[in-house]
Amino acid sequence: MSHTRVRKAVFPVAGLGTRFLPATKASPKEMLPVVDKPLIQYAVEEAYEAGIRDMVFVTGRSKRAIEDHFDTAYELENELEQAGKQAMLDLVRSISPADMNCLFVRQPRSLGLGHAVLCAEPLVGNEPFAVILADDLMVGDNGGPGVMAQMTAAFQKQGRSLLAVQEVPLEHTKRYGIVKGEAAGGALMRIEEIVEKPAPEKAPSRMGVAGRYVLTPAIFDEIRNQPKGVGGEIQLTDAIERLMATEAVYAFQYKGKRYDCGSKEGFLQATVELALQHPEVGASFRDYLKNLSI
Ligand code: G1P
Repeated sequence: MSHTRVRKAVFPVAGLGTRFLPATKASPKEMLPVVDKPLIQYAVEEAYEAGIRDMVFVTGRSKRAIEDHFDTAYELENELEQAGKQAMLDLVRSISPADMNCLFVRQPRSLGLGHAVLCAEPLVGNEPFAVILADDLMVGDNGGPGVMAQMTAAFQKQGRSLLAVQEVPLEHTKRYGIVKGEAAGGALMRIEEIVEKPAPEKAPSRMGVAGRYVLTPAIFDEIRNQPKGVGGEIQLTDAIERLMATEAVYAFQYKGKRYDCGSKEGFLQATVELALQHPEVGASFRDYLKNLSI
């Protein structure tokens, strides 16, 4: 690994999305829209803002809509052009800027997040890369940089793997990778212990891993040698724990907000809050909410 510029992002999007059935029976959960954009587009835009241009999607069966979303839509674009609907045409074309590359690889079986990341190795190669879980919709603080931009900037300075973390309620430790570590200046904490989805009484802290990582390519060997962990899956968390034996790994306390859009409640919160900020519908939606008798 010769540089600390993060050029590639991996989006594991092969998951079945069972928590959102029936909506996700025939549509990818990553295509669920928050106001007017699918979750995966928020994730890709966050990576793009961080200077990343190669987007690697680890996809699976019934996920074609994701590939189509980032592809040219000839018929639609033609019709909009003919109708002189320039603003809409620009909107559709802006989904895939000319300097962005989309790469796709399949994860043939649901063997876990670690396995999904390993599927991306041939497209990532021997360089640092980001992992973005589109279920976690992350927004930077008012007008500030997005979470991945904050992380790639931090990585450029110290060149070690970084995991986005936030404090979570004790009763929710079972939903997250939980880390314990030592303050290492600014937003960084050097991780001493990491456990995947511990019960509250076994959790080493309340610092939960959010779905953003910047990893060095050494992680691939660790995943390759990784036995199955919690839930019978090849866990990224376990591979990170092994990586810590040879390289320092840091937790990064980001500035911003995370919406767990893998859950109905988080998805609804994101929808309401982002709708309130939306330039087109924000003001009228605010009035609507104020007049609701709840
Ligand atoms: C995954 C990771 C977990 C992390 C979480 C963040 O779990 O395994 O360590 O805290 O993402 O969203 P999942 O939510 O895919 O079960």
